[in-house]
Amino acid sequence: IQTEGEAVRIWCDGCFDMMHYGHANVLRQAKSFGSFLIAGVHSSEEIAKNKGPPVLTLDERAKLLGSVRWVDQVVINAPYSTSVKTLDKFGCDFCVHSEDIALTAEGVDAYAEIKAAGRYRFSKRTPGVSTTDLIGRIASRFVEDYNKNSQIKESPWTTMGGSCPTSQIIALFSSLREANSTDKIIYVPGAFDCFRILPTVDTNHSEKIKYFQSTLTVIRYYAISDIGHVNFLESIRKHGSYIIVGLYSDEYVDNIVIDAPYNITSNFLERFQIDLVCCGQAANSIKINGTEDPYKEPKRQGKLKIVDSGCSFTVENLINRILKDRKLY
Ligand code: CTP
Repeated sequence: IQTEGEAVRIWCDGCFDMMHYGHANVLRQAKSFGSFLIAGVHSSEEIAKNKGPPVLTLDERAKLLGSVRWVDQVVINAPYSTSVKTLDKFGCDFCVHSEDIALTAEGVDAYAEIKAAGRYRFSKRTPGVSTTDLIGRIASRFVEDYNKNSQIKESPWTTMGGSCPTSQIIALFSSLREANSTDKIIYVPGAFDCFRILPTVDTNHSEKIKYFQSTLTVIRYYAISDIGHVNFLESIRKHGSYIIVGLYSDEYVDNIVIDAPYNITSNFLERFQIDLVCCGQAANSIKINGTEDPYKEPKRQGKLKIVDSGCSFTVENLINRILKDRKLY
């Protein structure tokens, strides 16, 4: 246990499958108990044994976990039941977990030992979101298409919403750092939803644009289960020091524009003093029939950069994975 003046080190473990804002929120609360947060992530074998198999691999879950603003270190293969030995091994004073009881396959409280040792602190569970629920929503939304075609055919539209972030919540999740005169300011427009919008040509384009914009107010500011987004933002970090994103919140993001305009105008570039607009290769291929290229102005000003995230993960992949193995979940 820490002595006076020493940093309080916190341990927070879990499966963290398909990271969602409930996970981000427990990590935010965990960090507030101390100053250094170690996040432990269980192996896929342990999760399969105690809860059923995860959708994402250990590497993917660890990568997403590490991208959360409040996490200082990630430990992989953390044991499913948290022991005093584990806390001591990583020099942690307390373990934080939300108040719900997590049972092992044997029906034992996975935190019983550290509770008895007085090394347990609890956070508030975020209502209305869970991995099981997300999987259920994906399955019911796409299963018909999948059964017919053995893969999903249409681009996944945002249907998983529900966090309804308030201004208070957005403030909690923001870095609150203002850009200064030495920053190189980058703007990255995008839905950045786990179920991001990929407008297709087969429906009325003005409807699509409206939908694209309205999602900016309703979709999760911190839905981070798309590892492609994390890789993409990480790559963008190399091109500037202050990143403004249409809608996203993790350690690579400094500010968020709400209701970002679809077309990036010269006024907009001036308003935020943007030096460079980055877009990914997938976003670059977005074409809306009959509408103007949204990147026309940054292109004209020589301020557009296409960034390769080096990651081929797509939301379509994720859904196909879930549907392929759905009997297991
Ligand atoms: N958690 C939370 N709020 C949620 C979901 C999860 O606070 N809505 C917390 C869990 O209580 C735990 C941590 O996030 O402290 C990691 O959870 P995890 O082991 O991944 O599993 P679950 O609690 O089962 O989360 P989910 O139902 O989403 O799988």
